[in-house]
Amino acid sequence: MKPGAWRYPRVLAHRGGGTLAPENTMAGLHEGMRRGFRAIEYDIMLARDGVPVVMHDPYLGRTVLGTGNVFDYDALELAGMDAGSWFARAHEGEPVPLFVEFASYCKAHGIWMNMEIKPAPGYEIETGGTVARIAAALFADEIAAGQVAAVPLLSSFSHLALEAAREVAPELPRACLMSELPPDWERRAQSVEAVAIHTNHRHLTPELAQEVRAAGYGLFCYTVNEPARARELLSWGVEAFCTDRIDLIGPDFA
Ligand code: G3P
Ligand code: MG
Repeated sequence: MKPGAWRYPRVLAHRGGGTLAPENTMAGLHEGMRRGFRAIEYDIMLARDGVPVVMHDPYLGRTVLGTGNVFDYDALELAGMDAGSWFARAHEGEPVPLFVEFASYCKAHGIWMNMEIKPAPGYEIETGGTVARIAAALFADEIAAGQVAAVPLLSSFSHLALEAAREVAPELPRACLMSELPPDWERRAQSVEAVAIHTNHRHLTPELAQEVRAAGYGLFCYTVNEPARARELLSWGVEAFCTDRIDLIGPDFA
């Protein structure tokens, strides 16, 4: 897919439900859906058995009760752990979602997905390839029918993961995540045939935004939590952003 042949929903709930529910869980997704969100960003990494789970950190302890690394456990072991207590007692026992189940649920409910491939160090290729293979299988009909707006967008800070995703499923759109755009951002985007650039809004300037848009790439910012800042970024040509504050910035934010 070429840059420019592709469009975003404007506002995505970051990690499913922003900071109003435990991140990267079904509870978070439901909180976003309850507030009208139909587009989300979430993080994916591999468990020890190579099965992807929805999780941000490569270690346990912050959002999942337990110790050690995600890669020390099989996916079903992680799915039996508690990813909700850290947020509130009411969410005790909230499981770590299996990626395939989470993505299937989103698809069934018309939730558009930015799947962030978040490989544990050393597992970039395996993670990128696995996420792309599962996503492509899940959306095989939409891909075959050319329903570009329905298929998920794969993004990653890992160039290796994006290369692996392109190898496995070239038809799925990809975005380069870069905290700060380096001078050679376009070369990097070209080398994985990305359709878009995802960047930290704190480092973006109007000039850089203009450069990215003029080159035909989509432009997305993370994580924008103030409405005034969101408006400013949109005025620079930013097309979409994710937010933690789904209470302050709604899905129809203009
Ligand atoms: O995908 C955008 C954003 O989620 C990247 O940062 O650490 O929140 O996954 P992080
Ligand atoms: Mg993320």
